[in-house]
Amino acid sequence: MTEEMIGRLNEQMTLEFSSGYLYLGFAARLESLALPGAAHWYRVQAEEELRHGMRLFEYLIRLSAEPMPGPVPAPRDIPEDFAGIADAGLRHERFITASIEGILFYAIGENDLQTQQFLQWFIGEQVEEEANARGIIDALNRADGCKAGLMLLDEKMGGREG
Ligand SMILES: [Fe+2]
Ligand SMILES: [Fe+2]
Repeated sequence: MTEEMIGRLNEQMTLEFSSGYLYLGFAARLESLALPGAAHWYRVQAEEELRHGMRLFEYLIRLSAEPMPGPVPAPRDIPEDFAGIADAGLRHERFITASIEGILFYAIGENDLQTQQFLQWFIGEQVEEEANARGIIDALNRADGCKAGLMLLDEKMGGREG
């Protein structure tokens, strides 16, 4: 594996940890907005992002490269309301998808079949992540500002397990 590839995988690892941190920011804001179910959903999502980061950590170690966790910035510009958070979540996942695709294209250019194979899991995962993010936006649109609809959505999101 090239140094460039190791650097890119390390960067993606840090991005995954940063995603977790961003979602913790979302969870905190949603608690402030008295939406504990939605806050729970983003807490669970934060844990999932940490596991994504760990996948990259372990992959680097398996290939005898040293994982180097980079600085994780404080989550910035957390939107004031749930709709803004849901939009920001989808934008963020699209950004992550583009980042993973960039590394995959690089791996293809390098004829690095192992890393191509490794990244395929993330490609599939991003389809799920974007679909989930869109699902929240759609559910909010359906509730259309109706308090009962919002409470129902909050309750449903509170039931997320893993
Ligand atoms: Fe992720
Ligand atoms: Fe994600």
